Amino acid sequence: STKQIQIAIDGYSACGKSTLARALAKELGYTYVDSGAMYRAVALFAMRRGLWDGEQFELDKLREELDGVLVTFDPKTGHTLLNGEDVESEIRTLEVSRPASVVASYDFVRTMLVAQQRRLGEAGGIVMDGRDIGTAVFPEAELKIFLTASPKVRAQRRYDELRGKGDQTTTMEMVSADLADRDYRDSHRAINPLRQAEDAVVIDNSELTIDEQTQVALQIAREREQK
Ligand code: CDP
Ligand code: CDP
Repeated sequence: STKQIQIAIDGYSACGKSTLARALAKELGYTYVDSGAMYRAVALFAMRRGLWDGEQFELDKLREELDGVLVTFDPKTGHTLLNGEDVESEIRTLEVSRPASVVASYDFVRTMLVAQQRRLGEAGGIVMDGRDIGTAVFPEAELKIFLTASPKVRAQRRYDELRGKGDQTTTMEMVSADLADRDYRDSHRAINPLRQAEDAVVIDNSELTIDEQTQVALQIAREREQK
């Protein structure tokens, strides 16, 4: 018999996790959740409240105000909503990337978001991408994918993406520095650092097209649905 499984996709920044997760969810008729968008939305909230000084957040105030943060997804567009407001384009900027990775290193932020993420996926039929999905959010997931690509390929992809959205000022050097900085912080933080789950399937997509990576993962997902 087939069942609605949990699919966890983890990996470093800009290797194609959300592209793969979205495509898998569409093919399987599952819900897609971008956990990184949740960290980005919390960072944006705190930045708007003036709690970011360029290096870190005012922790006591952030802890107090976190109750006022509601991150949801518009079921029609898939866009990220911060207290009901569509912040999809704002959270994707380079300005929000670094604060998002800093906010993600705070235990009280992770505790809140991990609890929400678990609720979203408890019934199965979910594809979630992030850094700690297979290791911490859904340690029992039937399918865990660890996606990788070379640093050069990842920087080029993110650069092209920003250009495509009309960003004319961000340079390749800025993108590469941001990815290296976040990769380091994500894999060295004390709580739920990025690491490959022991039972993860590793896919290096440096040389794969979007369609090829989808087909590779889809085949494994369909096998896992049968078990
Ligand atoms: O979610 P993550 O940050 O890991 O990456 P993404 O936003 O899904 O992908 C970053 C960019 O890489 C997007 O513009 C994708 O279209 C592109 N991409 C690609 O060119 N080839 C792939 N095999 C996967 C993603
Ligand atoms: O799209 P990109 O790969 O650049 O990053 P993202 O997935 O949007 O995540 C933004 C930031 O949130 C990352 O740099 C991580 O620091 C953090 N994050 C996390 O700590 N845990 C997750 N499950 C997802 C994201």
